[in-house]
Amino acid sequence: MPERVVITGGAGFIGSHLCARFLNVGYEVVCIDNLSTGSKDNIASFLDRPDFFFIKHDVTEYIYVDGPVDLVLHFASPASPADYLDLPIQTLKVGSLGTHKAMGLAKAKSARFLLASTSEIYGNPLQHPQSEEYFGNVNPVGLRGVYDESKRFAEAMVMAYHRNHGVSTRIARIFNTYGPNMRLDDGRVLPNFFSQALQKKALTIYGDGSQTRSFCFISDIVEGIFRLCRTEYHDPVNLGNPEEISIKDLAEMIVNLTGTGAEIAINHPLPDGDPQVRKPDISRAMDVLGWKPVVGREDGLKITLDYFKKKVSEIH
Ligand SMILES: NC(=O)c1ccc[n+]([C@@H]2O[C@H](COP(=O)([O-])OP(=O)(O)OC[C@H]3O[C@@H](n4cnc5c(N)ncnc54)[C@H](O)[C@@H]3O)[C@@H](O)[C@H]2O)c1
Repeated sequence: MPERVVITGGAGFIGSHLCARFLNVGYEVVCIDNLSTGSKDNIASFLDRPDFFFIKHDVTEYIYVDGPVDLVLHFASPASPADYLDLPIQTLKVGSLGTHKAMGLAKAKSARFLLASTSEIYGNPLQHPQSEEYFGNVNPVGLRGVYDESKRFAEAMVMAYHRNHGVSTRIARIFNTYGPNMRLDDGRVLPNFFSQALQKKALTIYGDGSQTRSFCFISDIVEGIFRLCRTEYHDPVNLGNPEEISIKDLAEMIVNLTGTGAEIAINHPLPDGDPQVRKPDISRAMDVLGWKPVVGREDGLKITLDYFKKKVSEIH
């Protein structure tokens, strides 16, 4: 019997790559998604496979899956700031009620569980780089609190199920990830920059562009998640690329890669609570998983550029 994995949010950016990875190594994949921020396009190539099942469902409601389940990956949640600011209550609900329902499924099926948490639980960090021991600097009543606090609550829920019910849980604290299957209009910096550059519009920089981010290519994140699933390690693990870049340098790199000569427009007002720095300390992932990112920035951006070129051509 093949192992069976349930992936909530499986039609989203990261979820769809996880569907592909688990199918490739012989799992049956049950993808549950309400398509609020994801798209059936991301899973279109799997829909006819006998080992892939799609259930359109809101995971804040009771989750019913027929038959055995070996692993539950809880990835459902709006993830881009534009999405979670647009869907604040849905975001809080999927982190709280959705995590409760997904944990309930794992407990009922005696399945292993992995939560997609986020670097956002560190808020606007006072420690740099951020290690898992850092508890964060989050404003619960700020605009971004809906996402940050829902993920913090989700982590607490997961640890309670682990401690009280003995569920075999994992928490991946994922830092900024990019690659094919991101929505062109999802509002995150890379889709924004690619979309603007490819349409020869000025790239919009919020603040003076000195704020830093570290971007990890999707295949590296998928590998880290896959390895974490195979451990019995229950404390949170940062997954991300520690190579930091300022937003201004990133904009210049994208203008050069696209070769479109687009301009860069600096100093749009910085959004509320936008973190100034963001960089993972991945020592734990290196120790526990023997993992570190292997795809260089330029290579990852070139693959992503090909994907966005296709997306932009579809809208013209
Ligand atoms: N992309 C990143 O850089 C990043 C970083 C840190 C954490 N994460 C986490 O990884 C997960 C996936 O992020 P993503 O970038 O793929 O985002 P995404 O928006 O592309 O995917 C999220 C998916 O969840 C689905 N969804 C949302 N609410 C749902 C609900 N109530 N019921 C069922 N499905 C629902 C959406 O339709 C979508 O397909 C999220 O939990 C996010 O918090 C992502």
